[in-house]
Amino acid sequence: MKKVSLTGIKPTGDLHIGNYFGAIKPALELAKEYDARYFIADYHGLNTMKNPTELNSSIRQVAAGWLASGLDPEKVIFYRQSSIPEVFELTTMIMAFTSKGLMNRAHAYKAAVQENNEKGDDPDAGINMGLFTYPILMAADIIIFDSDVVPVGKDQVQHIEMAQDIAQSVNANYGQPVLKVPNAAVQENVAVVPGLDGRKMSKSYNNTIPLFVPEKTLRKTIMRMVTNSQSVEEPKDPETSQVFQLYKLFADNSEQAALAARYRAGGMGWGEAKEELFRVVNRELTPVRERYDAIMADIPALDKILEQGAQKARPIAAATVKRFRKAAGIDC
Ligand code: TRP
Repeated sequence: MKKVSLTGIKPTGDLHIGNYFGAIKPALELAKEYDARYFIADYHGLNTMKNPTELNSSIRQVAAGWLASGLDPEKVIFYRQSSIPEVFELTTMIMAFTSKGLMNRAHAYKAAVQENNEKGDDPDAGINMGLFTYPILMAADIIIFDSDVVPVGKDQVQHIEMAQDIAQSVNANYGQPVLKVPNAAVQENVAVVPGLDGRKMSKSYNNTIPLFVPEKTLRKTIMRMVTNSQSVEEPKDPETSQVFQLYKLFADNSEQAALAARYRAGGMGWGEAKEELFRVVNRELTPVRERYDAIMADIPALDKILEQGAQKARPIAAATVKRFRKAAGIDC
């Protein structure tokens, strides 16, 4: 039997090229090797997003974005967290095995408290219980599907360790392997995608190239990339150029070699270098964008895909809860 991988997707709209190379593409690769499952963490989104229109459209955008990027709902399981009520039942059960101290030590919570302290506010100002207990819900997301491997960025490793702690406490208490203990697969060699200003591409830096914008907007955005002030004639170093680093993600080896030679020869200005970049970005993104637009034009069909995913996921989730209830002396 193949091992199970589980990828949790935060419902953020406005996916960008950094997400595409840093998260979406590597996560989709997992489907080759694993029994891969993907879900939209929409109840996690509720902790921070209280505007219903915004949350609703973020859920749809992110679902459509992953489908357009190549997620095949026939081959993997793709669902919304909120469609699996067993996740929330498991959350309650594992709460009984999670010390409050463990939550106090969570990085995200500690950072929020520190920020309050620095401002001289009450330490828990603006922190809801959803944020405080976030690692427990995340542990339930993972454990409920008997996940072997959870691909995450470094910032999420602590959450996986907490899920391990929780599952081990349950197993130790009942003296049997009631819950599968998951492992983190830390994504080390994923591409760092430079943003428009040269820093890592990130929504919080406001330096992103969005994935799903019309061609004209895409071109304009790329032309805004910051470069140095070298003249057209001057030879340029492709290795230190962010424009070239981005180009490399989209171009094949011979294209890369050819353009690197033109950089080094001089006679090509930054405007032209960016036009070359736009050409390859647009080449890759055009079919993705077309699929995305088609999916967003038929929301009932999108919802149906997610619903069918939930139907595949629920029996697995129900079996985990049943096993736990039986071990716990509830339901016997
Ligand atoms: N916390 C993850 C993030 O911020 C999202 C997430 C929620 C998740 N539940 C998960 C990831 C379960 C992996 C497994 O990106």
